[in-house]
Amino acid sequence: MEENWEELEKSIKGCKKCKLCLQRTNIVFGCGNKNADIMLIGEGPGADEDREAVPFVGKAGQLMNKAFEGLGIDREKVYIANIVKCRPPQNRVPEADEAEACLNYLRNQVILVKPKIIVLLGSTALKNILGKEYGITSSRGKWIEQKGILYLPTWHPAALLRDENKKIEFWKDLKSVITKYKELNANKN
Ligand code: URA
Repeated sequence: MEENWEELEKSIKGCKKCKLCLQRTNIVFGCGNKNADIMLIGEGPGADEDREAVPFVGKAGQLMNKAFEGLGIDREKVYIANIVKCRPPQNRVPEADEAEACLNYLRNQVILVKPKIIVLLGSTALKNILGKEYGITSSRGKWIEQKGILYLPTWHPAALLRDENKKIEFWKDLKSVITKYKELNANKN
């Protein structure tokens, strides 16, 4: 584990821990507030993210941004990262060895950010963070506490592009995140 961001960012440069390094343009490390109370974890970069080296800048990200704007969430105030930092070919789901190779970077990011709340965007994030026994359909919208962190699984924003009903649930889940965040901060004083 690296003790600070500088060391962590240095350690990932030129990473060749898995085969996703072969076709990537950029490593998509993460973005946002490195001291955020709220962190969001997605699956892996798509073509736009691979080009720009920033998570969630493509279609799915734009939809997520719209929800953020509607609910008054400032994207710059949360921290956003992915299970894998390099784009899987044809945007396929990361394979187990790829996720495994990359997860220590994410664990290190979580340790440095110290979020109180982690929003798990979709099945890949849920299964890799909380365990294979969790399913997104049954877990979404339900808070799960583990080791002092509150997790909320929800739909991956790309799923919203295909199903209008999921938009409503995603919106509801983000509202629940805001409520929880406010509760946590009210209890602090
Ligand atoms: N999908 C993800 O899971 N992450 C991104 O950064 C972009 C799309």
